[in-house]
Amino acid sequence: MNTSRKVILVMGALFCFALFAGTAFADAKLPAPQKNGGDGIFGLLERRASGTRSDFPKGEISAEELSTILWAASGLNRGGNGWTVPLAGGRPPYVKIYAVKPDGAFLYDWKEHSLVEVTGKNILGDITDDDFVKKSPCVLVFVTDIGSLGSMSRLNGGNALAWTASGAMTQNAYLAADSLGISGRYMVSMKTGAVASELKLGDADTPLCIMPLGKR
Ligand SMILES: Cc1cc2nc3c(=O)[nH]c(=O)nc-3n(C[C@H](O)[C@H](O)[C@H](O)COP(=O)(O)O)c2cc1C
Repeated sequence: MNTSRKVILVMGALFCFALFAGTAFADAKLPAPQKNGGDGIFGLLERRASGTRSDFPKGEISAEELSTILWAASGLNRGGNGWTVPLAGGRPPYVKIYAVKPDGAFLYDWKEHSLVEVTGKNILGDITDDDFVKKSPCVLVFVTDIGSLGSMSRLNGGNALAWTASGAMTQNAYLAADSLGISGRYMVSMKTGAVASELKLGDADTPLCIMPLGKR
């Protein structure tokens, strides 16, 4: 094969790879989270509440607001040496957060502070029976990542540790969201089978809870 044919073949292969990579991985770096200002912690604690089911706000959540809420829930802090929530043995987060929005479902990558696309489909109608959740502009889904627990998964199969972490994560999300004028609601009711299949979860991972969000 002559050199120009080889060049054309290599360029063709690179083009196909770029095309595939572009469609398969619609990853997005999140804007920097808000790390100062906002409402004081004691005022936030004084008024913390779940958004009401019958009147749940439906206002859009901006990329900056989502970035801040996800960072509050399990982002890196202390110059990259810790996380915003306490984790058993100081292990990396063993609860994953997915952001489910009308434009698709995305896994939060706390290392890169980015979103990794899992599906470009709107799955909001599939994962819940609650109308107000279906209409929410963004629903966070908390899922165990038992593999990340390593040897610590022997403690109650890791699930007790994951539930504890999800409580701290969602409380941080409640408070950060409220400071941004966003309501959230911690919920265990969801269609777990649909969540598992639409988010392509592994056999070991269990959906724990969801948190619809809406700007007031
Ligand atoms: C473990 C747990 C599970 C919950 N599951 C649901 C749920 O499935 N559906 C729902 O609408 N609210 C759910 N909630 C929200 C509670 O109903 C809500 O926190 C409670 O009514 C108190 O309201 P507050 O958060 O405004 O104080 C849950 C809360 C907790 C702590």
